[in-house]
Amino acid sequence: MITYLVMYYAPAMVANASPVFVGRGTPLDFGKRFWDGRRLLGDGKTWEGLMVGMLFGSTIACAESVLLDSPALYVYGLMAVLGALIGDIVSSFFKRRIGLERGAPLPLVDQLDFYVGATAFMIAVGWKPEWKLVALGAIIIVILHKLTNLIAYYLHLKDVPW
Ligand code: CTP
Ligand code: MG
Repeated sequence: MITYLVMYYAPAMVANASPVFVGRGTPLDFGKRFWDGRRLLGDGKTWEGLMVGMLFGSTIACAESVLLDSPALYVYGLMAVLGALIGDIVSSFFKRRIGLERGAPLPLVDQLDFYVGATAFMIAVGWKPEWKLVALGAIIIVILHKLTNLIAYYLHLKDVPW
């Protein structure tokens, strides 16, 4: 059950989490604005973050497929990495369009954008998901986010507990 989720989603999760450590960089949108006058994506989406996400995510995909001797897992992993990063970028685009500043919270979308993207991209190359497990994975991700934010808050790494 959990093994199934880790097997298919570990590359996407790593790709989604690793850009956080980049900090600053060149914005993907190069500072450009959309017709509405707001930033296309904002400073929270950088080229450096994208590269680090692709590098770390695809490393996990490669390691997994070698360890489990499954070439298919490599293809799914790479697609999941791409889907995760693109999903995160797409949700950023829509957050700017509804007027939310970079980093402003949009519950569920912030946590699940990468997961939806990864799932869609894996399905695009022939993955037949166990939908019950995919749904369970979504619930686990939301709970994990709440927990890590709470821990970061009590360790004084964050100012707010969400
Ligand atoms: N990040 C990055 N490049 C990316 C994705 C993320 O550099 N392609 C880094 C940024 O420093 C970002 C952090 O990871 O602030 C956390 O990512 P995320 O929560 O997705 O971005 P937000 O800052 O919340 O921005 P947004 O409101 O656009 O989602
Ligand atoms: Mg965010």
